[in-house]
Order: sequence, then C-alpha cells, then structure tokens
Amino acid sequence: PREKGWVASYVHQYQGFWHTTRQIQGVLSCQKHFKSLDNDILLVSTPKSGTTWLKAIIFSLVNRSTFPDTKHNHPLLTTNPHVLVPFLELDLYVETNHVPDLSAISKASFDRPRLFSTHLPYVSLPESVKTSACKIVYLCRNPKDIFVSLWHFTNRLRPESWGQNSMEESFDKFCNGVSLYGPFWDHLLGYWKVSSETERPEKVLFLNYDEMRKEPFSHVKKLAEFVGFPFSVEEEANGDVARILELCSFDNLSNLEVNKSGKLWSGEENKAFFRRGEVGDWTNHLTPEMAEKLDSLVEQKLHGSGLKF
Ligand code: A3P
Repeated sequence: PREKGWVASYVHQYQGFWHTTRQIQGVLSCQKHFKSLDNDILLVSTPKSGTTWLKAIIFSLVNRSTFPDTKHNHPLLTTNPHVLVPFLELDLYVETNHVPDLSAISKASFDRPRLFSTHLPYVSLPESVKTSACKIVYLCRNPKDIFVSLWHFTNRLRPESWGQNSMEESFDKFCNGVSLYGPFWDHLLGYWKVSSETERPEKVLFLNYDEMRKEPFSHVKKLAEFVGFPFSVEEEANGDVARILELCSFDNLSNLEVNKSGKLWSGEENKAFFRRGEVGDWTNHLTPEMAEKLDSLVEQKLHGSGLKF
C-alpha cells in the first residue's frame, strides 16, 4: 500500500511498517544479503530515539582498550557516530543489487564484535539476525519527544527532500501509524515480546532514552555487561565509565567540528542528528490536547504488554 503526503515522496507499507521509496531498496537488500555473525552487536531503534548517542556509547565501550584516551586520538573526536556504527539498510545495503564488502569491518574490528545499527522492525530483520547468537540492543524513547524530534528532522532540517508538513498534519499521520518505520507502537512491541520471552532474554536488551538520561551510569554498566564488555572494579574506580559518558555527551559531541559540518553518505547533514537532546521538549511544541491524545493512544496500543512510558 502507498500513502501520499507526510513526506514529499510516497511512503510504502512493507510487512506492516512504513518506509520511504528510497529506503525500501535498502530494506529488501539487507534482508536478502546480510549474514549476521554470532558475536555481532546490532543497535535497533525507532528513529529519533537517541540512536546517535547510543552509537557513540557502544563504540566507545566496546573499543575502550584500543582507544582508552577519550581526549586525544579517539575516533569519535573526528568521526560522526553514524560512520563508526553504520545503518544496515541506510548506509550499507542501499541498492537492491549492491552487496557491500564487510570484510573491512571485520578486519578493522580485530577480535571485537562488528557493530551495526538498523531501524528495521523485528518482523523485517534479516533471518540470520534472528537465528544467530548476535545480540540486539533496542533503544526507545517517549513517543511525544520522538514525534517532535522527527518533525524537526524531516521538516526543518531537510525540507527539500522530506517535504514540508505542518505539525498538526504530521501529528495526525503519526497517530495513524504513518511515520518513519511506524507504527511506533508496533515497532516497540515486536522487540519487547522477544526481550520479555523467557526463552531468549539474552537476545535483546531493551533501553529507554529517558531512563538513560536520568541514570546514565547504571545504564552504561548494564549495557557493557549485556554486550560482554563489563567494566571491572578497577576501571570503574578509574573513572572509565564517567569518561565515556563525558565523551558521548550531547554538549561534547554536538560541539565537535566533525558534527557541526559535513554530510553522511545518505545525504543527511551531521548536525541534523543534534538538536536539543532534552527529555520533555514536547512541552514546547504539543498542545495539551495533542499530548493527551498521543498518551492515551499509546497506552491503549501497549495495553497488556507490561510496557509503559
Ligand atoms: P532532539 O531532536 O529531541 O534534540 P537519533 O539519533 O535517533 O536520530 O535521535 C536524535 C535525538 O537524539 C535528537 O533529539 C538529538 O538531539 C538527540 N541526541 C543526539 N546526540 C545526543 C547525545 N550525545 N546525547 C543525548 N541526546 C542526543
């Protein structure tokens, strides 16, 4: 099915989720060609959940023995997090008949796991991701901030490619499930079910941006344990967790020259991924009626799952 509006191009519904025309090729291509290894780590998120932040954190913690100095010579000081942890369907598998050479990634990471990311819903993941022992870290965020962040991303920052829609128009579509990789609630539920299934609790770690912002320290430690790179008592006493958090903070990353200028392969400007980085910015944009509508809609959609915002 195709739906016109919300973005300049048509968006297509595939396996129950909405994609742009350009993305759909990448989705099909990585489904067909990507072969996951048992020690891969895949970051999955709904767009605008703080993927950029999580990419920076996971890269730093997995590679901390190679790059212990977070003030000098650290890749994040000169490279955008999306380059260090590429998206499967947006960066690597972008054309139907193009199979990227991932051997460079394997070589570069030595005995480290390969790090990839995706916005794909669980149902659309390449089969090998589901069947291999690779780990999935799923990041979500409260839907009101996601909606506001997404609206800015698609309308203000790149109107030439996404089209311009009023907040009200976009809001109605979001509530009808028509948003990038939406419906938002179905995306969440797909991964939530796997993470809460008793037979595979080791497969998916479920993280929430808002909770991570509140207690970053404990979340980074939990993440490090989940991906098999726990912090030792000495490392913690040494301030290693705090140093990674400082390196990856919104203020630090957004003020780096590399993130203020330049573009990603996909054409997005590096700076487009850094806006305000706050929890609750929705209060500046949504009317109380809109907030109430989205809250009750999401509550109804998640009812019975045990998942709440
Ligand atoms: P806002 O638009 O609310 O500011 P994604 O990376 O999934 O595209 O999400 C982008 C959102 O994460 C934006 O939210 C952005 O400002 C915020 N963000 C980017 N880098 C961050 C960081 N290092 N720490 C916290 N939030 C960050």
